[in-house]
Amino acid sequence: MRLKDKVAIITGAGLGMGRAGSVLFAREGASVLIFDLNEKAASETESIIKSEGGKCAVFIGDVSKEADVKAGVEEAVKQFGKLNILYANAGVLWKDRDKSVIETTEENWDIVQAINLKGAFFLTKHGIPYLQKAGGGSIILVGSISALVGFTLAQDSYTCAKGALISLAKSLAVQFGPDNIRCNIIHPGMVDTPLQEPYLTPEKKKAIGDSLPLKRLGKPEDIANTALFLASDESSWMTGAELIVDGGFMAT
Ligand SMILES: NC(=O)c1ccc[n+]([C@@H]2O[C@H](COP(=O)([O-])OP(=O)(O)OC[C@H]3O[C@@H](n4cnc5c(N)ncnc54)[C@H](O)[C@@H]3O)[C@@H](O)[C@H]2O)c1
Repeated sequence: MRLKDKVAIITGAGLGMGRAGSVLFAREGASVLIFDLNEKAASETESIIKSEGGKCAVFIGDVSKEADVKAGVEEAVKQFGKLNILYANAGVLWKDRDKSVIETTEENWDIVQAINLKGAFFLTKHGIPYLQKAGGGSIILVGSISALVGFTLAQDSYTCAKGALISLAKSLAVQFGPDNIRCNIIHPGMVDTPLQEPYLTPEKKKAIGDSLPLKRLGKPEDIANTALFLASDESSWMTGAELIVDGGFMAT
């Protein structure tokens, strides 16, 4: 029960790492507001948590829309009375539209930024005042190894959004540390989730896994466990940090 009596909002909680994080946080005693635009996926996450006796509620919204995020944050407080953890997990990787700067339209650049970067801006903008009210809290942002190295198959808007989140994590850490609010960022390597599904055949997955020091792709739970550590009091002297969770990719 490492998150006993805590309230968390997790964006992109319908699938992938967000679902794994929601289930794990609820198992550890948190009440979880599942925020996602995919209604079916969100209600599946809800069913898993409720079948295990956990506490959660669903809010259907789009992280790129400020009014949705504000309403989602308010719903978490209405349902559970307070807010302690903001987990800005929602993101999209659209390799068909987001490519090199010389191939990407302005419209596609902007929408990728709006979901991957502005979503975290809205969540922290509207969530931090509640964390202050609660006497502190933990903010978890999700970057990517794409923000740390260049890739020959570019997704430049995604990469830049994830890079900007590193700066946001450090700025929030410094600004709100005195309020006992911590902010850290996780950089996942390649994790086997629905986000990667359109781009990976089973053969490709195996080849990428074999190329890593730890010889496998990541599982959503690998990232959820890291987020749990950052959400819990076990990381109470950590802020502004970047945690790379990538099977050793960045070490090679
Ligand atoms: N999977 C990877 O290999 C990988 C690697 C590095 C970073 N990441 C990052 O990790 C995070 C989670 O990725 P994942 O692989 O679990 O993704 P996923 O596609 O499996 O799940 C993402 C969830 O976010 C939701 N979502 C998408 N756009 C949304 C929006 N505008 N508003 C609300 N919800 C929205 C989707 O409906 C889905 O439920 C993302 O930020 C992603 O960029 C993933």
